[in-house]
Amino acid sequence: MSGIVVVGSLNADLVVRTERFPQPGETLHGSDLATLPGGKSANQAVAAGRLGGTVRMIGAVGDDGNGRLLRDSVAAAGVDTTHVAVREGVPTGTAVITVDAAGENTIVVSGGANATLTPDDLPADAFDGTGVLGLCLEVSIDVVLAAARAGRAAGATVLTNLSPFGAVPQELLDLTDVLLVNEHESVALGDHGVARSIVTRGGDGCVVHDGDAESVVVEAVRVDPVDTTGCGDAFMGAVALRLDAGDSLVDAARFAVGVGAYAATEPGAQASYPTPAELERFLRS
Ligand code: RIB
Ligand code: NA
Repeated sequence: MSGIVVVGSLNADLVVRTERFPQPGETLHGSDLATLPGGKSANQAVAAGRLGGTVRMIGAVGDDGNGRLLRDSVAAAGVDTTHVAVREGVPTGTAVITVDAAGENTIVVSGGANATLTPDDLPADAFDGTGVLGLCLEVSIDVVLAAARAGRAAGATVLTNLSPFGAVPQELLDLTDVLLVNEHESVALGDHGVARSIVTRGGDGCVVHDGDAESVVVEAVRVDPVDTTGCGDAFMGAVALRLDAGDSLVDAARFAVGVGAYAATEPGAQASYPTPAELERFLRS
């Protein structure tokens, strides 16, 4: 079985750069507003697609310009968008993003069409032959659970990213083969019982736990970050790609650290993801 299916969110990212983040009640000057393709799931799909993976996206956008922007960006990465539904009269999901001089960000997401996705939007044969199923928490937990159940039943490796972090049902953890969390989420989650997991540490690489094997620290690829928006999603898309290709979790994480670092060197999320040739040049330099 091979191929990746990503179920979840597509967002238009409304991005303003500013020297530092505002305090509550404070007004700051920022750069011109940019509208860029984002959304954690769409980002994951694009990252894997641009690197050459066979990827299908299941989600929903509105019947507006931002919806077209998202469908075009995902399709341009070679991702199958047959199951990206277009909802009439509903706005495409939107993320309001501030990026500071250090390339760090703050993000507030408005669900829009993502919030209309239901388990009925999952095609009956959605996961037949799927190697890896990618999930995150930017669509309703009912959809995430339904996808995880169907993915598990079809024999796919269920790769779950618990972002944006909230209440996590035990069933989701039970259905997850590989868990992807950042350090904050890892602490908030506590003991989770998922045998295979990766804890990402931002610019400091990640820690891989693979069953009974000793945990492995994967060192970062050092960069001067321009914009870290979507670096975690690039990392996840890269992990999905390599797990689908049969890599061990540690090898997948080693590859993904480079992809995440590359994404930090350019503005935006999807707009900053590498092709294999771009990645190779970057890692050689
Ligand atoms: O992880 C980054 C993403 O989070 C952004 O693209 C934004 O859309 C939010 O979903
Ligand atoms: Na970026």
